[in-house]
Amino acid sequence: MRLANKICAITGAGKGIGRAAAELFAAEGAKIFILEFDEKSGFDAEKTITGKGQQAVFIKCDVSSNDSVKAAFACVAEAGPLHVLYNNASVYLNGKDGLITDIEPDIWSRVIGINLNSIYHCCRYAIPLLQKSGGGSIINTASSAGVIGIPKCDAYTATKGATVALTRSLASEFGRYGIRTNCIAPAAIATDMVKESNPDGDDFDSVAFINLRTPLRRWGTPDEVAQLALFLASDDSSYINGTIIAADGGITINGDLAKVKQA
Ligand SMILES: NC(=O)c1ccc[n+]([C@@H]2O[C@H](COP(=O)([O-])OP(=O)(O)OC[C@H]3O[C@@H](n4cnc5c(N)ncnc54)[C@H](O)[C@@H]3O)[C@@H](O)[C@H]2O)c1
Repeated sequence: MRLANKICAITGAGKGIGRAAAELFAAEGAKIFILEFDEKSGFDAEKTITGKGQQAVFIKCDVSSNDSVKAAFACVAEAGPLHVLYNNASVYLNGKDGLITDIEPDIWSRVIGINLNSIYHCCRYAIPLLQKSGGGSIINTASSAGVIGIPKCDAYTATKGATVALTRSLASEFGRYGIRTNCIAPAAIATDMVKESNPDGDDFDSVAFINLRTPLRRWGTPDEVAQLALFLASDDSSYINGTIIAADGGITINGDLAKVKQA
C-alpha cells in the first residue's frame, strides 16, 4: 500500500492515463478525487473503484475554469489533508490545432485554457492544501511535443513546453515546503487522444506509424504511465524534484527517423 491514507486529486481521470492512475492509486490505498469534465466517464471511474471497496469521488470539473476548479478543491479540502495533485487533463484538437499560421484564435485559447491554464488553476487552489498537509507531490503532464519539435500542433506544443518550464519553477519554489513537482512526458500511449491524433489511422493494430517512431516497436499502455505516476506520487521518489521523465518507448531520443524506417 504505497499510498495508504493519502488523498489524491487527478484531473481528467475518467479516461486514458488519468483513469489508469486513479485505479492504481486507489488500489494502493489512496482516496481519489476524480476531477473530470465528462460526466459519464467520471461516474464510471468512481463506480469501478468504489465497486472494489476502494475510495473515489467524482467531481464534475472543467479544469479550464477558475470557478470550477475552486469549487472542486473546496470539496477536496473537506475530506482532509491533500497529498497529491496530478495535473493530467488535456486536449489535442486534431484537425483544428496545426500550423501557428492556420490556428483560429478560439482554438488557440481553448487549448491554452484546458492544457495550461488548468495547471495554474489547480496549483492555485491545491498548493495551499499541500502546504497545510506538510508537503506532497505535484505531477504535471507534458508530452514529447514539449521537449522535441513536432509539427502541426502548435497550440498543444506551446502548452506542453510551458508545462515543462512551469514544472521546474514550481519545483524550485515549493521544494522548501516538502512539495515535490515532477513532470511526465508521454508519447504513443494507446488512448482515445492518440487514436484521434494518429495520422495513419485509428487502429492500434495498425503499426506503421509506431514502427517508424518507437525503438520499442509497440504502443505503450495507460497503466505503464500510471506506474510512473505512482512512483512520483509515493515516498519512493522522496528525493526526486523538478524532473521531466519521458514515458514514450524511446521516441523522444529517436533522432533519425529515416534510418529507423530503412532498418
Ligand atoms: N496518450 C498519449 O500518447 C499522450 C502523449 C503525449 C501526452 N499525453 C498527455 O497525457 C495526458 C492524458 O492523455 P490521454 O491520452 O489519457 O488523454 P484522453 O483523451 O484519453 O483523456 C483525457 C481526459 O481529460 C478529460 N478532460 C478533457 N478536457 C477536460 C476539462 N476541460 N476538464 C476536465 N477534464 C477534461 C477528458 O474528458 C479525458 O477523460 C494529457 O495531458 C496528454 O496531453 C498523452
